[in-house]
This record gives sequence, C-alpha cells and structure tokens, in this order.
Amino acid sequence: MRLDQDILEVFYSEEQLKAKVAELGAAITRDYQGKSPVLVSVLRGSYIFMADLTRSIDLPCTVDFMSVSSYGAGTTSSGQVKILKDLSEPIEGKDLIIVEDILDSGNTLFYLRDVLAARKPASIAICTLLDKPERRVKPIRADYSGFEVPDAFVVGYGLDYAEKYRNLPYIGVLKPEIYGG
Ligand code: IMP
Ligand code: MG
Repeated sequence: MRLDQDILEVFYSEEQLKAKVAELGAAITRDYQGKSPVLVSVLRGSYIFMADLTRSIDLPCTVDFMSVSSYGAGTTSSGQVKILKDLSEPIEGKDLIIVEDILDSGNTLFYLRDVLAARKPASIAICTLLDKPERRVKPIRADYSGFEVPDAFVVGYGLDYAEKYRNLPYIGVLKPEIYGG
C-alpha cells in the first residue's frame, strides 16, 4: 500500500519546500554574519527541516537537539510541556536559533524559550517552517517563518500523525477517515 493514498490534498510540494528552506537559510546567513549560531532542533517533528535548513546556511553554525513531550496520538495541544531530552552542550553566551516544524498553540515554544533563556544565551531566535497564527494561545511569534497554514492538521516532511507520515517528502492533509482512527 502506498503512503500517499492516505493524503487528501498536498499543501506544499517538495519543490515549494525546497525553495522556502533555501530562502530561510539565506535570510539566516545574512542576519548572522560574523556569528556562529547554534541551531537547536526540537525533535522529532523538525528533523527533516533541520537537516535541509542547516545545509542551506553558509555559516560556521553548530547543531544541538532537544526533545519535548508533544500531543501523543491526538491532534490538539495539552498545554503541558515536558523536557524528554535536553541539549548536549551549554549555551551561555551563544546565539540560539530554535528550529521548529510548526508553531501552533505556541505552548511548546513559549515554555522552551523561557527554559533556554534562563541559561543566558546571547540571543534567541525562532525559525519555524509552518505557522498557524489562528490557533495561538500564547503570545509568541517566529523570527523566521516559512508558510502560514490554515487551521488543519498537516503531515509530512517530519510532521506526523500518530508517529506516521513523517517520511512523506511533501506536506499535506490526510483523508478524514484516517484521523477518525
Ligand atoms: P504547539 O505547542 O501547540 O505550538 O505545538 C507545537 C507542536 O505540535 C509542533 O512542534 C508539532 O509537533 C505539533 N503539531 C502542531 N500542529 C501540528 C500539525 O498540524 N501536524 C503535526 N504536528 C503538529
Ligand atoms: Mg514538534
């Protein structure tokens, strides 16, 4: 069975994603001249975006990874965020760029930004591939943002539904019967 048989509609094709990631990488490269930012990937949703984004940044940057609790198998935020895996390196005095797949309610990044800010980095920026501003419950916005998505649950390019569909090369929505379980 083919994975893309479960997809109702493609929102962003492989080509569109590639072009957008190149744009974001170029903007970061421009803004961080003379600096060595640390790109912090929020696992697991951002892993593919992170891999492509870092390759489109022409700076001596480093990478680190964090894992926070997410939605489980559902499609709505619990408001509860827990660190499951912390960074490997200290970040004091560093220029951080938090790399997220999607900024939805804002609960995750609102919490994460505070946790990281307490470690005294020189700066913190947020780079998200997707943004759902309509669903925001916390006052937080991205410094770099790829696409504004309508209020729909999307999968692919790292984003999952019940841990599946991360490996789709594009981003789209599933057929309603799949979300129904
Ligand atoms: P927030 O805390 O509500 O902003 O949610 C952020 C996290 O929820 C993201 O990093 C994703 O892992 C997950 N998420 C939110 N919306 C979607 C979606 O449409 N598809 C897949 N994951 C999502
Ligand atoms: Mg995520």
